[in-house]
Amino acid sequence: MDNPVVVVGGAGRVGRLVAQRLLERGAAVRVVDHALQHARRHLPPGVAFTLGDVRDPAGLAEPLARCSAVVYCVDPGTADTGPDSPQSTVYQGLCNVLDAARAAGQRPHVVLISQHHATHWGHPLNAYGRVLEWRLAGEEALRESGLPYTVIRPGWLTDGAAGLRVRLAQGDRGNGQVSRQDVAEACVQALYCPSASGVTFEMFNETGVAPSHWEGLFAALEWDQVPVA
Ligand SMILES: NC(=O)c1ccc[n+]([C@@H]2O[C@H](COP(=O)([O-])OP(=O)(O)OC[C@H]3O[C@@H](n4cnc5c(N)ncnc54)[C@H](OP(=O)(O)O)[C@@H]3O)[C@@H](O)[C@H]2O)c1
Repeated sequence: MDNPVVVVGGAGRVGRLVAQRLLERGAAVRVVDHALQHARRHLPPGVAFTLGDVRDPAGLAEPLARCSAVVYCVDPGTADTGPDSPQSTVYQGLCNVLDAARAAGQRPHVVLISQHHATHWGHPLNAYGRVLEWRLAGEEALRESGLPYTVIRPGWLTDGAAGLRVRLAQGDRGNGQVSRQDVAEACVQALYCPSASGVTFEMFNETGVAPSHWEGLFAALEWDQVPVA
């Protein structure tokens, strides 16, 4: 990566793992998050931190300037309306980040953490601020942004260690768990594997051996069908 990778929501539990793994690969890392205490406590030395809120576009221009890539890890909130609603965080906030990331003709690769069941609007989860509908709206905004992208829909997140088999699936029919460690690794691998561009997939752990060849895992996926503008 020639320019920094920006991890939005990067002081959170997956985001800080993404930041750490990127540093280990020698990437420059910027984190944007509104959780100052999490950032102080959990971010590794070497990360450039900006206190910012995705609902406030004015604060996004500077940290997203001249970036190579963006990883979006913000959690949705549960309110039906207002600033803590999924509409504000995982839809409008993502759109604000995409606008800032595209400024001055930049074309960063954007990795979005969404969630499995994003297309199942009858699921009980959707009672919380229509989170699944706004997740899907955010995914669609990214797929139609014209930027290189990867959409990751993890199953239920756990804090277990990495080391299990990882299954990538498509069609949003699966259910299961996946560790934050593996989701963070998938985010980073997506930035370094060309075959991860232009795909949407669910992600689960299963019994078996941890992946050693992510390029092959991504290459087995179908590309998204994105309407031509
Ligand atoms: N839990 C599950 O089973 C599950 C399953 C699938 C997908 N996911 C999704 O996976 C993603 C990563 O999960 P995680 O466990 O890492 O979540 P997390 O620990 O809650 O991290 C999210 C980070 O985003 C920050 N944030 C929230 N709103 C923000 C805003 N408006 N502007 C800037 N920063 C903001 C949070 O700060 P605060 O903590 O101060 O809000 C937190 O630091 C989330 O989108 C989550 O919803 C979760």
